[in-house]
This record gives sequence, C-alpha cells and structure tokens, in this order.
Amino acid sequence: MTLPLLKIERFLAHAHSSDQGATWRAMSALPVKFDNAEEYPSTYELLASSLNSARPAAAVLDLACGDGQLLNILASRAPTSTELFGVDMSPEELVHARGLLGPRATLQLGRAQALPFAAQTFDLVLSHMALMLFEQEHLVVAEIERVLRPGGRLSAVVGVAPPKSQVQAVFSELLSQYERLPEWRDIRFRSRLFSSPSSIAELLVGFTDFISKSCLIAQDGTPLQAWAWFGGMYELHALTIDQRASLRDEFLRRCGSIALDGRVTWKVKVLYFSATRVQPAHADL
Ligand SMILES: C[S@@+](CC[C@H](N)C(=O)[O-])C[C@H]1O[C@@H](n2cnc3c(N)ncnc32)[C@H](O)[C@@H]1O
Repeated sequence: MTLPLLKIERFLAHAHSSDQGATWRAMSALPVKFDNAEEYPSTYELLASSLNSARPAAAVLDLACGDGQLLNILASRAPTSTELFGVDMSPEELVHARGLLGPRATLQLGRAQALPFAAQTFDLVLSHMALMLFEQEHLVVAEIERVLRPGGRLSAVVGVAPPKSQVQAVFSELLSQYERLPEWRDIRFRSRLFSSPSSIAELLVGFTDFISKSCLIAQDGTPLQAWAWFGGMYELHALTIDQRASLRDEFLRRCGSIALDGRVTWKVKVLYFSATRVQPAHADL
C-alpha cells in the first residue's frame, strides 16, 4: 500500500528508505537528567516509564514507531495482556520493526494525520522524536484525541533547538553553503507548533493535566563522533552524495581545528510532555 503524502513526508520517506534505525543509533545511549534530579538511561526509557502510571494501559500506540525500538522496550515491561500497536508512514522502518517485534505488536502503515485506528482504541499514545517533524499539527492532535479513550494519556519526546555550540555553528554554516536538490528546496524541517511548552499546550485543547520538562544533554567526542551525530541530520538527505561527502570532510577539518585534546562538545535538547484526554473529540463519539 502507498500513502498520499505531503511533500515533507515524501522527503522523510525518502530519507528513511535509505537509512533505518538512525534515531535509535543516535539517541538510545543518551542519558536524560531533569532539573528535579529524575533520571533515565535514555529518552526511550523515559517514555517507557509511562507504563507505570496509576491507570493500567490495555492498549498502547507508538505513533511514528520507526524501527520499533520503543515498542520493543514496552514489550519487555508490559504484561502480555497489554496490546501494543505501532504506526509509521515508512514501509522500510516497519520491515525492521516487524523483524524485531514479531507478533507481539500490531504494526500499521499510516500517517499521523489520518490514523488507521477506530475511535477510543488506546489508553496511552506515545511518540518519540517524531511530532516535531509533522505538518498539519492540529489534525495530528485531533487524531490522537480521537483514538485515545477519555482519561487516556499522550506522552511524547520531541527534539527542540539546543543553544548553539561552536560545533553546531560550524555544521549550520557549512550546511548553508550547499544548495539543496531542487525537489527539496522549499521544505521546512521543524514544526513551529510542536516546538515549545506554550505552543504545545495551546495545541492540546481537549486535554488536561499538561506537564512538560526539558533536558539539555551535553555530548563530547572526537570530530568523527560529532559527525556520527550531525551526519544523521535529515537536512543532509536534501543534498547530493558528493555534497554530503564534501560537507563531512569540511566539518571534520573545522572540528579538528577547534578540538581541545582531540575532542569537541555539543548539546542536544529534548522536551518531554504529557497530557490527559478529557473530552470526546467529536460529538458523534
Ligand atoms: C526521527 S524518526 C523517529 C522514529 C522512532 N519513533 C524512534 O524514535 O526511534 C521519525 C519517524 O516519523 C515517521 N513519520 C514522519 N512523518 C510521519 C507521518 N506524517 N505519519 C507517520 N509517521 C511519520 C518517519 O517515518 C520516522 O520513522
């Protein structure tokens, strides 16, 4: 089955068709520590901890589940009676997810803006590092609201712009020197609405008990390790292979010149939020 996709989705589908599991490789070993000293080994574990809430979840959806790693953690924690579901618009990511999860989870090809599930199916909707990529944000929220049971919860982690480090500045400057392929010239990579606690809270009409907390994750490593992070950015898929190779060489050279004892530092910022669905989304529910 193929889906009618928006341009940004066609771009993301193109990126995920050539590289699966990139988010897990980039983020599964990044520990999270909030100001209140709450700690998790990773943002995946942070979301998986939503299973411990007072209200047991009979059915859980991972929205934009990618290669299924969050569902895999949930499968190791949730009672077998908890039904696990994943949806993603990338067929290639779903192939990996199916291989990882087997029959333990039901996986569907679909878009966040038109979820392939009946109303009031889930007690918990989770989403890791995906909502900030979506357009038509109001539609996405309406869909999450529709598939959640009243009293059900949405918990998500999104990536937000970190304070600019020297390495980030080098990457952005180099990126700006290359013209994107014509096809991808006019796409925007980040949602303006899934970007800050206040804009997210405004989007979540029909939800209550909104909480959010952000965390800055400091990273350091050799220039090559920095490239393992920056080289995974979606923006690079809008360039030719030759442009990417030359950007990588220049990035390594520039990082080499600012490295101290062979190492550079940069930061990653994530925002966690969670809210409870209170109202039926539509009068006919
Ligand atoms: C950054 S990856 C995160 C994958 C996974 N949640 C993880 O953290 O490992 C973003 C995912 O969102 C999916 N995606 C992007 N736009 C989507 C849409 N409109 N509907 C459903 N999935 C979408 C992509 O295919 C991709 O798997």
